[in-house]
Amino acid sequence: MHVAAVVLLTTSAEADTPANCSYEDIRGTWIFQVGSSQEKGSQDWNCSASTAFAVQYQVKIHLAYPDIATDEFNNKGFWTLIYNQGFEVVVAGRKYFGFSAFKEKSSLCNVINPGWAHDVLGNDLSCFKGQKEGSIIKRSRRINRDPTLRFEYSINSEELVESINKVHKSWTAKRYKQFESLSREDFVRMAGGKRTQGIRAPHLAHATVNGQKNLRASFPRAFDWRNVNGENFVSPVRNQAQCGSCYAFTAMGMAESRYRILTNNTMQPVFSPQDIVECSIYSQGCEGGFGYLVGGKYAEDFGLVKEKCNPYKGIDGKCSTDKKCARYRMTDYKYVGGFYGGCNEMAMMEAIYNRGPVAVGFEVYNDFFNYKSGVYHHNPKLNQAPFQPFELTNHAVLIVGWGEVSSPVPDKYWIVKNSWGADWGMDGYFWIRRGTDECGIESLAMEATPIIRFD
Ligand SMILES: *[C@@H]1O[C@H](CO)[C@@H](O)[C@H](O)[C@H]1NC(C)=O
Ligand SMILES: *[C@@H]1O[C@H](CO)[C@@H](O)[C@H](O)[C@H]1NC(C)=O
Ligand SMILES: *[C@@H]1O[C@H](CO)[C@@H](O)[C@H](O)[C@H]1NC(C)=O
Repeated sequence: MHVAAVVLLTTSAEADTPANCSYEDIRGTWIFQVGSSQEKGSQDWNCSASTAFAVQYQVKIHLAYPDIATDEFNNKGFWTLIYNQGFEVVVAGRKYFGFSAFKEKSSLCNVINPGWAHDVLGNDLSCFKGQKEGSIIKRSRRINRDPTLRFEYSINSEELVESINKVHKSWTAKRYKQFESLSREDFVRMAGGKRTQGIRAPHLAHATVNGQKNLRASFPRAFDWRNVNGENFVSPVRNQAQCGSCYAFTAMGMAESRYRILTNNTMQPVFSPQDIVECSIYSQGCEGGFGYLVGGKYAEDFGLVKEKCNPYKGIDGKCSTDKKCARYRMTDYKYVGGFYGGCNEMAMMEAIYNRGPVAVGFEVYNDFFNYKSGVYHHNPKLNQAPFQPFELTNHAVLIVGWGEVSSPVPDKYWIVKNSWGADWGMDGYFWIRRGTDECGIESLAMEATPIIRFD
């Protein structure tokens, strides 16, 4: 990192503005206008490219706390925010998903950009647009200048590593040779990509926390899918390189691991994150994406392909996946806890223990890049001086288990698979403090179930 990199901050952080709509912005009554049907499985079914389509019918849907969608015929269904980016609604056997509209520096939270609709069996594809009843809800994006995010020292510097090792008892840092030639933009991409920058998970009341205390006793104190009675159910660590494709690696990692679990390790597919980067209409390639929309929605609507069908290149490009390749679908995708805002430690342990690893997001601060070992937590006290290489970021990773340590300080942790190569952290893994929503890691876990394809 060079000082010159700081200058780039303002321009690039503002270049690509994500929507930033809150729960209250979205909750309310919506009119969806649904367009004409399209051919099933067509990769051209790209509703964000459809500015105009013939409206066939419209439907009024009320979205209420916490996840209840009710249509004008009083059919009850489900809805969830997808981060602060958009929402998904399922009611009367139809599923609707769209991104909130945004223009230049502000989001228009009462409008959904043309989005995707189909029945719950995946048939009858169409595009829809949505508008919320009531007044215009315009939200301008602020660049987060919280001084606690500032770091005195730059990533991978001797000074940063020394100060971490001086301040923290629970984890240690080291310099990485492979980081020496990286620019600020490279680090941004490693930590989620531009599109997911500056986004803090809005915290709903954690609706499912009550009654979870009794659950704790039913889980072991330590659990790790890499070693369940001597068997490893987690695929090898990979390296996303300088592309903001962490969300794709995490989603593929979840699918790979859950395939192994469901087939007692007799099937060990490795799926293609490059197919996601190039071909997913629900994400933004190397600029970022969301686990819910990739490990869940894309995997259900389009399916995943094996690595050899589109080997990893780590750059954006036209969809070059071999069309003859089999597609492996996932189903029952959901946020752990049921909907966005319903997640917590116990619900995550239940999902991991009973069904397999879960995909999560968390905020990467500068100090995280130099993690070497131990139970990571971020200490704002380290952040004093004016150097602010980038805004809050959101990095996607896979939780494969949990544990506890008694020394050097007693701590509970998650065991997390990263996608920065096996020579980072502890053989590509890290531990992070558990039970305190450290860096937002307990705010948006998601999971999905493979539909086993025998071939
Ligand atoms: C979908 O359409 C949008 C808007 O035209 C375009 O930016 C995007 O690249 C398209 N995605 C795919 C996968 O074709
Ligand atoms: C997004 O909106 C929330 C309020 O819902 C606000 O606190 C936050 O600062 C906004 N983020 C950005 C980057 O503007
Ligand atoms: C699962 O695999 C292990 C190791 O090969 C074997 O010991 C065990 O019997 C298998 N379980 C089932 C239910 O087949």
